[in-house]
Amino acid sequence: MAFTIKKICCIGAGYVGGPTMSVIAQQCPDIQITLVDMNTERIAAWNNPDLDQLPIYEPGLSDIVAEARDRNLFFSTDVEKAIEEADMIFISVNTPTKNYGKGKGMAADLKYIELCARQIADVATSDKIVVEKSTLPVRTAAALKSILHNTGSSVNFHILSNPEFLAEGTAVQDLLNPDRVLIGGENKEAIQALVDIYAGWVDKDRILTTNLWSSELSKLTANAFLAQRVSSINSISELCEKTGADVQEVAKAIGMDTRIGSKFLKASVGFGGSCFQKDILNLVYIARSYNLQEVADYWEQVILMNDHQKQRFADNIIQTLFNTVNGKKIAILGWAFKKDTNDTRESAAIYVADHLLNEQADIHVYDPKVPAEKVFVDLEYLNSRPDAETRRLASVSEDPYEACKDAHAIAILTEWDEFKTYDWARIKRSMKSPSFIFDGRKLLERAQLEELGFVYYAIGE
Ligand code: NAD
Ligand code: UGA
Repeated sequence: MAFTIKKICCIGAGYVGGPTMSVIAQQCPDIQITLVDMNTERIAAWNNPDLDQLPIYEPGLSDIVAEARDRNLFFSTDVEKAIEEADMIFISVNTPTKNYGKGKGMAADLKYIELCARQIADVATSDKIVVEKSTLPVRTAAALKSILHNTGSSVNFHILSNPEFLAEGTAVQDLLNPDRVLIGGENKEAIQALVDIYAGWVDKDRILTTNLWSSELSKLTANAFLAQRVSSINSISELCEKTGADVQEVAKAIGMDTRIGSKFLKASVGFGGSCFQKDILNLVYIARSYNLQEVADYWEQVILMNDHQKQRFADNIIQTLFNTVNGKKIAILGWAFKKDTNDTRESAAIYVADHLLNEQADIHVYDPKVPAEKVFVDLEYLNSRPDAETRRLASVSEDPYEACKDAHAIAILTEWDEFKTYDWARIKRSMKSPSFIFDGRKLLERAQLEELGFVYYAIGE
């Protein structure tokens, strides 16, 4: 029996649910989409007439929301109503690393997923296609099935896995023009219903269908491979610093080999973001749970190398500043985990700053998109010292020139384009001498800065 999809509900209006549903709504004006979330503030922000106040910043997103909102795209806190009315339900809730009990610090916390499944089971009175959009451990669909198929009612549920591969900062482009769309499932008609939605704007050759487990595992594997490339080039960056090789030249030289490819070879202060670490930890946990120790150890090394990269970047600042940063002003440019997003989850900046605060440095943060309070919340979450001490030692500036004034050193931790356009001569004049720059993104030009009198250090040079 073919399915006709007229109404979609998506549970979870976050970084994935928000942009994904906005793009589907824009591309499929005949489908009514309701994005629901239990976070009332987030829903209010999605409904804010001032498009600059949307809860998520992504280039191009506000135009799409402006086009589709209140036409066929709706944001609501009424989860039950949206579930009941929908033909297809996407689950796009968070799946963080568990911070309690068995698997603490490693396994994915599936409580939000399970809550959604139970709510769908309780509320549904007509057949539904349930789509896993969140990133999940392989075989999660088996648990969802067991919840949804044991309700005692006559309602039929079909489960699909449709992991999302968008990257933050380029979410809209990635959704409009994806490398591939992956759909895993068991029921052909249910798979076809989702294929038909994407086929509205995605070339059919790019829509890949697999079994449920391959789809679930492909998502974790894709993130593990991407993160592994960053850790691999970061490991080489340290060797470059010792040997006089230049990591950018090495990356270019290896990347021109089409078997290796040039993308994702940018050495950095370490990868951040809500997913790479969590998904690899999850993969490691799954491998251990099947007693595959070598597989687990292999992937765990990607995380260990990333932790090392953040740590050694901070250590280098301390060592270069004559082994003490106590009472020294250090400007941090960039707090988001990458440019063009206001997301700070697992940002390398948090860990570098925390390390410097442990040494009693006086840090001043500037980021073009991250609100001041978020910086404090991120630091306090680590629980490294009393909050009052964090707030005494750290401050946030709205002006980059203020952040850098009288600083002993500047650490560039996010690759925001605007940093390249600053008046670096003015910044140099306002700083203490010697004036150090630690470029964790290799964003700036060594020759230009050295000419201005900076002592310039960059990852991998
Ligand atoms: P998020 O935290 O931004 O959004 C999740 C939302 O779900 C939150 O607003 C939360 O309030 C809501 N929620 C949780 N439980 C709920 C419930 N029972 N009912 C209603 N609302 C509920 O998370 P995100 O970044 O959008 O990630 C979601 C999933 O997508 C994760 O599994 C993640 O791994 C995956 N993913 C994320 C990205 C990314 O770039 N952020 C990319 C691909 C995949
Ligand atoms: C990543 C993947 O790229 C997406 O495909 C995936 O959907 C998503 O995770 C997810 O599952 O959440 P995202 O974390 O948004 O997307 O951003 P990336 O562009 O992958 O960057 C991740 C981190 O790696 C950033 O801190 C970035 O600065 C760093 N990075 C990336 C490098 O240091 N060097 C590189 O060459 C590339």
